[in-house]
Amino acid sequence: MCCKISLFTCPVCGNSLEINGKSYKCINNHTFDSAKSGYVNLLTSDRMNAKNPGDNKLMVKSRSDFLDKGYYGHLLEKLCESVYEIVSENNVILDAGCGEGYYTSGIYNYLCDRKMAIQSAGIDISKHAVDKAAKRCHDIQYAVGSIFHIPVSDSSCNILLNVFAPFCRDEFLRIINDGGYMVMVIPGRKHLWELKNIVYERPYENNPKPEKIDGFVFWKKYNVQRQIELESNEDILNLFAMTPYFYNTRITDREKLSELNFLKTNTEFEILIYRKGDA
Ligand SMILES: C[S@@+](CC[C@H](N)C(=O)[O-])C[C@H]1O[C@@H](n2cnc3c(N)ncnc32)[C@H](O)[C@@H]1O
Ligand SMILES: [Zn+2]
Repeated sequence: MCCKISLFTCPVCGNSLEINGKSYKCINNHTFDSAKSGYVNLLTSDRMNAKNPGDNKLMVKSRSDFLDKGYYGHLLEKLCESVYEIVSENNVILDAGCGEGYYTSGIYNYLCDRKMAIQSAGIDISKHAVDKAAKRCHDIQYAVGSIFHIPVSDSSCNILLNVFAPFCRDEFLRIINDGGYMVMVIPGRKHLWELKNIVYERPYENNPKPEKIDGFVFWKKYNVQRQIELESNEDILNLFAMTPYFYNTRITDREKLSELNFLKTNTEFEILIYRKGDA
């Protein structure tokens, strides 16, 4: 059977992994079997964080159901265009904290439609999310892994995506090659403002992120805004379950959404693009 080299590295010894059928194996015979959906679990037990195993099944389902209805299609579109501006033939794109791969696969499909030959991979600490991502697109390599110990080799990525996910500067600097890019997405100041107004007595705006990050040169920023209209209680609850506020909100406040069947709310995102290097 023919073997191919994976983008991922062995989480035990750091050597490259060969894919042979359903197994990923390094030269030291550390072996990891892929799941039925096609992802591989490269999270070793010492790196598992019981407090933060990533998004649970319910969070993943809520986000998938919501995103698959296209409510954030305007963000995906701008993100695709932003990546298209910086990508080159044969680039490796890694989505760190890919969730269930909505943006990973959206960008991959957009680039393939434009005949760009690229390799795409995603990692996330939640196996529920990665399982869903792997089912979405079989041409993208997915692994369960931590952003704080990304199982890929040094300087192996041309473009790193980091969309509403934890940030780890040192790991990102390690894996992006010289001249490579980091594309981050964070919520904008007034993101979901009307939703927050219903739930909280005194809602806060999101703080803008300082653009300067040591080791990176800030290149470009896009602000993406649109009003969206949610026409069912299910969609409203799914949106709320996707937000970081969901688990920190009092039940009495959460209940304010239980009878709501229509919501028009602002969405606002910042796409921040950086190049690896010093100014
Ligand atoms: C808000 S979700 C965003 C997911 C995806 N990028 C999206 O926008 O649809 C944050 C993701 O980060 C993942 N995550 C949290 N801690 C992580 C870690 N230490 N390493 C990798 N992923 C992590 C969660 O499991 C979750 O899927
Ligand atoms: Zn190994």
